[in-house]
Amino acid sequence: MRKKIVAGNWKMNTIKDEGVVLASGIASKLNDVPSDVTLMVAPPFTHIYNVSEALKGTAVEVGAQNCADHKSGAYTGEVSIDMLKSVGCSFVILGHSERREYYGENSDSLNLKTDLAFESGFSVIFCVGEKLSDREDGKHFDVVGEQIKSVLYNMKPEFSGKLIIAYEPVWAIGTGKTATSSQAQEMHAFIRKTMAGKFGKDAENIPILYGGSCKPSNAAELFAQPDIDGGLIGGAALKADDFIAIAKSFK
Ligand code: PGA
Repeated sequence: MRKKIVAGNWKMNTIKDEGVVLASGIASKLNDVPSDVTLMVAPPFTHIYNVSEALKGTAVEVGAQNCADHKSGAYTGEVSIDMLKSVGCSFVILGHSERREYYGENSDSLNLKTDLAFESGFSVIFCVGEKLSDREDGKHFDVVGEQIKSVLYNMKPEFSGKLIIAYEPVWAIGTGKTATSSQAQEMHAFIRKTMAGKFGKDAENIPILYGGSCKPSNAAELFAQPDIDGGLIGGAALKADDFIAIAKSFK
């Protein structure tokens, strides 16, 4: 049985006190969430510590939206994986399309970051997804396949149990346009097949989340697909009620 996961990517939203209120709101509603669903939240760096304190004693995992590609040293402005561990993080989101698009994230830095994260015992939510033009040109499988092969094929097989993949079509992120459940399922099956090409049977156990305008009204249909194991949620993760409603959307 693969894990069912709903992960909130708060992006550059909430100041510290708002983040704590949001986390406390989630904590107060956890009784509504089926026990086989894992919840994860990735607040901004500045209040990861406060959010992890607010969620202490719950099963909600706290993580970061990025990490440095070096372990420590003279890298002004960067945040290392050890720093993240020291404030309560157990996972990191890597390769988000906003980081690829606006901050030049590429497979070289992602190879370094995934290695550092896994070696430090972190789980990694590794994001892949095509742009609208890729899909219109019929290149979406090639683009996603390459994003996977250029980084995840280099990963040590022993870490596959710590890997979560998020398929986030760029054209669906924050746009209100969701991939249809069949478009998403088709890509998730392709991702699983691509991972099986390198990791064999272990690929069966890797959770693959859908991301891109996932919300309470469409989560159930998406999560009902055989290869969709949950969601990476942006906008709808900023309201505790919506986040919890999404977590209750598994059949
Ligand atoms: P969205 O973002 O739910 O606001 O579309 C998802 C994401 O980028 O992770």
